Order: sequence, then C-alpha cells, then structure tokens
Amino acid sequence: MDHEMPRPDPHVLIFPFPVQGHVSCMLKLAELLCLAGLQVTFLNSDYIHRRLLLYTDVLSRFTPYKRFNFETIFDGLPADHPRSGDRVTDIFDSIEAVIKPQFREMLISGRLSDSRPPVTCIIADGIMCSFTIDVARELGIQILSFRTVSASCFWAFFCMPKLIHACELPFKGEDDDLDRSLSSVTGMESFLRLRDLPSFCRETNLAHRGLQLVMSETQKATRADGLILNTFEDLEESALTHIRKHIPKLYTIGPLHDNLRARITKTDSSQSRLSSNSLWEEDRSCMAWLDDQSPRSVLYASFGSMTVLTKDELIEFWYGIVNSGKPFLWVIRPNSVVGECQVPTALLTGTKERGYMVGWAPQEEVLAHPAVGGFLTHSGWNSTLESIVVGVPMICWPYYADQQVNSRLVGEVWKLGLDMKDTCDRVIVEKMIKDLMEARRDGFVQSASQMAKLARKSVTEGGSSYDNLDRLVEDIKSMSH
Ligand code: UDX
Repeated sequence: MDHEMPRPDPHVLIFPFPVQGHVSCMLKLAELLCLAGLQVTFLNSDYIHRRLLLYTDVLSRFTPYKRFNFETIFDGLPADHPRSGDRVTDIFDSIEAVIKPQFREMLISGRLSDSRPPVTCIIADGIMCSFTIDVARELGIQILSFRTVSASCFWAFFCMPKLIHACELPFKGEDDDLDRSLSSVTGMESFLRLRDLPSFCRETNLAHRGLQLVMSETQKATRADGLILNTFEDLEESALTHIRKHIPKLYTIGPLHDNLRARITKTDSSQSRLSSNSLWEEDRSCMAWLDDQSPRSVLYASFGSMTVLTKDELIEFWYGIVNSGKPFLWVIRPNSVVGECQVPTALLTGTKERGYMVGWAPQEEVLAHPAVGGFLTHSGWNSTLESIVVGVPMICWPYYADQQVNSRLVGEVWKLGLDMKDTCDRVIVEKMIKDLMEARRDGFVQSASQMAKLARKSVTEGGSSYDNLDRLVEDIKSMSH
C-alpha cells in the first residue's frame, strides 16, 4: 500500500553577508517572499540586527507577516569594529571560525522549526557559497545562491580562471597596464579593460586572498540549486545569456526595491508600509531642503555604506562640487573619512543655501525627488539600480570590489553617465558635474529615462522580473514536495 508522505509547508531561510548593501536588498527579497505567503526566517548578525532595530521600524513593518521571523547569529567581531573599508575582510575571517559552526548547529538543532515547519530552502548570500552549500547538502535542504552584484560583474568574477589561463591576469604592476583591453570575459571584449575589473584584480599576486575568495565562491555557485540576481533582463541581457550556459536555473528579479514597491502598491495603494533598511539614522531634514530646489538642479553625492575617503579625496570632491556652482546634497557617513578632517569652512560659508550635508539620507526617496538631476556615486550595485529606476544620470567614482565593473557599464555601455574611476581631482570633478548637468544633460536624461522605463516595465505584471519572482516562489514551494 502506498503511503503518501505529508507535504511540509515551504520554509525559506535567508542568510545575507552581514553588511548594509547585502542585508538591505535581501530583506527586500524576504518581504517579497512574505507577500507571496511563504514562511520566511531572516538570519541577521546580532550587530546588524541591533542597528536595524535602532534606526528603522523594521519590526512593525514585518508585524503583518505572521509567518516571518528574525534569527540572529554572532559575527565574531567586537561591537566597535568598523566593518567597512579594508576591514570588511575581517568578517571573512570570522566566517570559518565563528559563523559556520553556529549556522550548522542552528539547522541541526532544529531550533528554527520549534514553532515553524522545517527549513525547506536556504537562500544564502553567494559570497558565502562554500559553507552554506556544504551544510545544506549535509542536511538534504535545497539551496539557492543570491548575489548582490550585477550580472556583468558576476560574469567577470566567473571568468577569472579563464583570465588567468589566458595570462590576462595578474596585473603587471604598472599603471599603463590598467588600460590593457581584455578578451577573456566573453561578451564584454569590446569595452572591458583591466582597469574595469573588480578592484582585487589589481593585485600582482594571484594568491591574493580577496581574489582567490571571490573567484572560488563564484565558481561554487554552480553547485547550488539555482542563482538569484538583483537585475533585469533588458539591462544585462548579454551577461545573463552567458551565465545561463553554466547556471540554467537563473532568477532575475530586480530591481528588488522596485519589485517590492510595485507589489506593495498593488495590495496597498497608500504605500504606507514602504520604509528603509538603514543601519544609520536617516536625516530626513534634507527632504524639506530638496523641496525648495528647482527641478533637476541638485547634485546628490553619496558613496554608500563602506567607502572610506582620504582627507585629500574629501577636499578634492569639496572644491569640485562647490566650484561646479550646482546646489548639492552630500552624504558624509560617520567615520567615512580617514583621520580628522573638516571641509574648508570658508567655502561652506559661501554655499550655505547651495549645499546641504547629512550623515545618512533616505536615499531611495532622495533619488526619486524631482529636484535631483545628477548622482555622484561609488557605483555600488544597489545605488546604481536605485538611480536607474528613477532615471537619474550618474558620475561614477568606484571605490572597490564590484564597483569598477558597474561604473564602466554606466559610462560606456548604457550611456547613463560618466565614469570618473581612478581620478580624484577638483578640476575633473567640476567638469564632469557641468558635463552631466549642463553640456551633455539632454542626452543623459534621455537615455536614463529610457532605461528607467525598461526597469519599471520589468517589475510590472507580465514583465520579466515580475514573472521570474512568481517562478521563484513556485519553485520554492515545489522544493518541499
Ligand atoms: C557594496 C557593493 O559595492 C555593492 O555593489 C553590493 O551589491 C553590496 O555591497 P555598498 O557600499 O553598501 O555596497 O553600496 P550599495 O550597494 O550602493 O548600497 C548602499 C545602500 O545604502 C543603498 O541601498 C542606498 O540606498 C543606501 N543608502 C546609502 C542610504 O539609504 N542612505 C545613504 O545616505 C547612503
């Protein structure tokens, strides 16, 4: 006699790498899965969780989702550790020693299924592929990898062994070498230079830890049961075609923040439940200041959650921005400048009405404000997508990791702005702002508006990201069969 096994309810465990840019977009994914009615557990580091509770209303936002839970894990670092700039690598040291054993124990102990169904699917940050896949396989749980970077950047990471085999890596150490064109990242031959590869490809030693880590974690994505990317088909068609040859089960569901906005608007037209996932206190006073500015007149400058500026860089940006004559809203995150540094107050006095500075802004809202006409950005992937969705042209000053690739795409491929990588000079900053917001303004606004339309289309009913999210939900449900 056949006995049918009872079908367990789907239960998804989402586990981001514990920094702002990763937690923020994976929380949006969590909310999208909650809206689809799935049981979701979100695993935060205790450090991140404390800050989320301090600076956001995340708990009340998730209260309506009865099948949502937060869990926490210790990241192994002292509370006063900066977790930014170069020091972010310390988190990787903690993974093996501290995070991995806790993660495994949490799943083995059954703690997550005390009052919930057993975990049927793990969605793990792909930068922590190795150990999460090992644990999932040991316990017979299906696992999807989620990468917070662009598809093009993922593809460049994926092609690193090929770059090495073709002797296109390592970097030879001289500045001239950075302008060398590359041919081993298929589909990107016409525009990719060594200068545009992720920052750790500028190492002359192939044994460099960051390079080895990203290369091996990216290759291991093929061992997962699928890959989720925060992008949309029209934006990165070529890279996605190449990735699919290696990872056929690919879900492009971005821009996640806009996919969430669209779904929430559908169920709650007031959008009252939309709010931020910031780990710093948002200074909302800048919104009233923006209200007093003319349409498309303001330059918004922000370098994300991990960039650290030197004092010289801060001063060059300051002169460049002020001398451009444009009104500006500038985010200078606490502890984001090396050492003690004040902006030159003489200039500040002359620009009181023209410039507004905050420690952390409600960025999605700022970019969507009609007064914003340009974005000076570090080209983090979330910031890039947030700008694309609202059609704001960019000046890109990539800092590290994936940002060098993104800025090349913005400047050379999508024509959504200017790539200022590897220079930080007041004259160039001033000229680029004037080019972006005056001389070449119309062209950039036109291409940015077209791309914004495609982004919006992708998350509306029948669009690629909308449909792919539905497919992801259905596939997660079938994992528990
Ligand atoms: C890094 C990587 O560069 C990025 O590509 C990867 O996807 C995540 O890690 P980060 O420096 O955090 O990112 O930049 P970004 O991805 O742009 O994320 C920053 C987030 O902080 C954005 O969502 C942005 O809206 C938010 N932010 C930034 C604010 O809410 N307020 C601010 O003042 C500044």
